[in-house]
Amino acid sequence: MTLEAPREIRHGRSVAEVYDYGAHVWSWHLDDEPVLWTSAHSAFERGKALRGGVPICWPWFGPGRSGDLTPAHGFARISGWTLTDVVEGPDATVLTYGLTSADAPEALPGETWTLTYEVGVGQGDLALALTVANEGARPFSYEVALHTYLTVGDVRRVTVSGLDGASYLDKVTGRREMQAGDVTITAETDRVYDRAGEIVVDDPVLGRRLHIATDGAANSVVWNPWVAKSSTMADFGDDEWPGMLCIEAGNVLEGAVDLQPGESSILRYRLTPART
Ligand code: BG6
Repeated sequence: MTLEAPREIRHGRSVAEVYDYGAHVWSWHLDDEPVLWTSAHSAFERGKALRGGVPICWPWFGPGRSGDLTPAHGFARISGWTLTDVVEGPDATVLTYGLTSADAPEALPGETWTLTYEVGVGQGDLALALTVANEGARPFSYEVALHTYLTVGDVRRVTVSGLDGASYLDKVTGRREMQAGDVTITAETDRVYDRAGEIVVDDPVLGRRLHIATDGAANSVVWNPWVAKSSTMADFGDDEWPGMLCIEAGNVLEGAVDLQPGESSILRYRLTPART
């Protein structure tokens, strides 16, 4: 079944499109320029993930820690969320979405939980906050990521700072490595860094820097499929990889969150572009 059109949110120079399906921020433009990347080949069907924007990965990342879970990246991005509030403030328009264990019981069988997702479409930034609350009587564990796809002029020319000295799992080779200096993209890249916080993507082709500030995240994931991998994905054009870079924030693998009954945990991701 095809998706209904996304909601369009305008706030000053900022325009976002958000699908209730997946509570998925699909596009975000600032001064008419795309900041998030969207594939021209994405599916827009229930049961399938959108390719681009900000998919929410929960309660597992990729195939999960066991390596055999489906659907990939969990249920949140392919579930129908409920818009519960829209507040137009002076600095941002904030949408609030909810998803509960009653909506997607198969996500964590037997557990009782609520997800609350705030999307702040600001004058000069996009601010995302995902809260996971354990409303059951026993602890549960989950992985989570805000899988942000960024538009870049040419991924081969960007530099990513903020990860110097961080250790990472290279998912392409399966090896553990240490980052030396800035990250540059010269081949298929799929890395889970044991660090999050402040990251800057410097893009000389588009003449801008993308400032990423995160909170409540143990990990950053850097992903670009490059030539061979993108040719295997039906919803990713063969020539689209140079224009995108995923800088995701989350808690995955050993960074997974253990949540006690009555507790909640918040993951925040703020994206602020600046001209250079
Ligand atoms: C990244 C993972 O976050 O997402 C990659 O690290 C994965 O391994 C990519 O290929 C895309 O995943 P999907 O399920 O949206 O094709």
